[in-house]
Parts: sequence; structure tokens; C-alpha cells
Amino acid sequence: MTSSEVTVDVHLDAADVVAALAHDAALGLSATPKWLPPKWFYDDRGSALFDDITRLPEYYPTRCELEILQRRAGDIATACPADTLIELGAGTSAKTTLLLDALAAAGSLARVVPFDVSEATLRAAAVTLAARYPGVTVHAVVGDFERHLHLLPGGGRRLFAFLGGTIGNLDPSQRAGFLRQVAESLAPGEGLLVGFDLVKEPIRLVSAYDDSSGVTAQFNRNVLAVLNRELGANFDLERFAHVARWVPEHEWIEMRLRSLEAQLVSLPGIGLDLDFATGEELRTEISAKFRRDRVAAELGAAGLRLAHWWTDHAGDFAVTLSFLS
Ligand code: SAH
Ligand code: AVI
Repeated sequence: MTSSEVTVDVHLDAADVVAALAHDAALGLSATPKWLPPKWFYDDRGSALFDDITRLPEYYPTRCELEILQRRAGDIATACPADTLIELGAGTSAKTTLLLDALAAAGSLARVVPFDVSEATLRAAAVTLAARYPGVTVHAVVGDFERHLHLLPGGGRRLFAFLGGTIGNLDPSQRAGFLRQVAESLAPGEGLLVGFDLVKEPIRLVSAYDDSSGVTAQFNRNVLAVLNRELGANFDLERFAHVARWVPEHEWIEMRLRSLEAQLVSLPGIGLDLDFATGEELRTEISAKFRRDRVAAELGAAGLRLAHWWTDHAGDFAVTLSFLS
């Protein structure tokens, strides 16, 4: 059989990406302390570096979530026999095949909708999915899951998946807004599957975000390369050190870039000149870690009912399935 046809909706083209990046950089880099949203890590190189991170010995979340999906994909398909799988922040869609195989075995699978801000990664994943699932419609969507959820294709019975712990890269108010929007777009019987990384010993958390081979450091600095390319900035990546820190009061990891010296950086694309003091830090990501009660409360506040909570054998990571309350 030949591959399915792939359609790709683009809600964020190259010009939109530059405009959104310019907006976020102007806002975050003029603030004190300076910050940037983590979605800007994921150009082609950043997406490839994230893929490398998922194979690092220190980075447990991908392996834990894979273990859960291997064990529970059949239960998920039984609890939500969807004909459409919509994967938010799909990346390479590497774990998606477990869900798709289970939905196909249940006889319900007709369509898969990978959704991501990173167009090249998404297109490559869509082609791979089409080749693997002939007869299944592959409808990829390039967009921002904080802005374009209302543009997702409807029809049929849909299962939304938001894997990898990416929900932890949103701050609490962004999470609340995101969950509310997903809940608003769900019909009765449609499900939301989310991967949550769980609170654990800080030493393990910090080493997962500060690996010994320095891949996460390259991933972190890559956001500066994105600013250089897209906004004509002149960040010298070697003059910023990678920092990963556990923040107990928020129960999240913060990634930061620490200026190794006093320096001036120009971003002509947004008419901004920045002073960095020696040791000044720019926050590039939060990665929140969760406990069950908080997950249930946040889902509940969005109008969602936590129907299933599955963890890996070590209890490091959880996958939840929710429906409208
Ligand atoms: N789900 C995959 C990939 C996780 S990496 C996994 O579990 O391994 C996070 C992914 O989310 C990246 O592919 C990145 O491009 C995407 N992403 C980050 N912020 C986004 C946003 N605001 N809108 C859409 N996609 C986003
Ligand atoms: C995509 N996201 C869940 C990753 C995380 O663990 O927060 C991104 C990442 N940052 C550093 N390493 C991986």
C-alpha cells in the first residue's frame, strides 16, 4: 500500500515566527530579570538537540513516559476509542506510534494531527507517520498551542495528547489558560492525555537538566543563536554559561544563561541594545514538576475530570487521561 497523503496547515509562517519572536524578545529582554519563552529553542538545530537530550542517561522523562505508554496504550484506546489523535507539541512524534498502534488495533483510528511550532520537524514527522499508517489521514498543523488551538480540525471523536512533560514548560497561569482552552474545544467523550514529570530528589532533577556531556547546555545556548539569526543579534554564545537550578518554592527547574562578563549585546531587528552585568542571568525555561493533587486541582479548575493516572514503575513520571467534568 502507498503512504497516506499529508496535508499541512500553516498558522505560523516564517514571517509570523519572526514577528512573534521579535515581540517576545522585546518584552522579555527589556524586563528585570531578563527572560525568554522556551518555545524559541526549537529551530531545526534545537529540535535535533532536544532529540539528543531524550537519549541522555540523565534525562529520564522520555524513557519513563515510553514505559507508561508501552504498558497503557491499550487501556487508553479502550477508555477513549478515538478516531483522531491530535498531538500538541508533537516534535518527532516518536512516542505517538504507541498510541496510534493501540487505536488502530481497537479499530477506531482514521486521522492523526501532529501540531507543533517547529515546521521542518513537523513536516518530517508527518511524512514518517503517513508511510507507517497507510489509509490514515495525516493532517499536520504548524502553530502555537497557546494561540492556535481553536484552529485545530474538528469532527469525529478526538483524543488530544500533550506528552513529554511539555505542560511543565508553561507557568501556572499559562497552564490554566491552556487547559481551559483545551477543555473548551473538547466534546463529551473526547479525551486529553497529558504527560507530567513528577517531583523527585533535586539532585536527579538538576542532573537531568545539566547533563555531563553538555547537550542541554548547547540546547539552552541555541536560543541565542536563534536570536542572532532571526533578529540580527550579536550574542557570543561562548560568553554565556548554562545554569540549571531547582527552585523549591515553585517546584520547578529553571534554566538560565549566565553572562560570564559585562557585555553589550545589540538586537537591531527590534532596535534594542542590552547591557549584561557579570553574572547576570537570563531565564530561558521553567520545567515544573508535579504532584497528583496539584494535577487533579489544575485539571478540575479547567473543567476537566482526572479519569486515569498512570505512572512508570519508579513513580518518576505520570500520564493522565481526562474528560470534561
Ligand atoms: N512531544 C515530544 C516533544 C517534546 S519537546 C516528546 O514528548 O518528546 C517540546 C515540543 O513542543 C517541541 O517539538 C516544540 O517545538 C514544541 N513546542 C514548544 N512550544 C510550543 C508552542 N507554544 N506551540 C506549539 N509547539 C510548541
Ligand atoms: C520539552 N520539555 C518537556 C523539556 C523539559 O524537560 O522541560 C525541555 C527540556 N529542557 C531541557 N531539557 C529538556
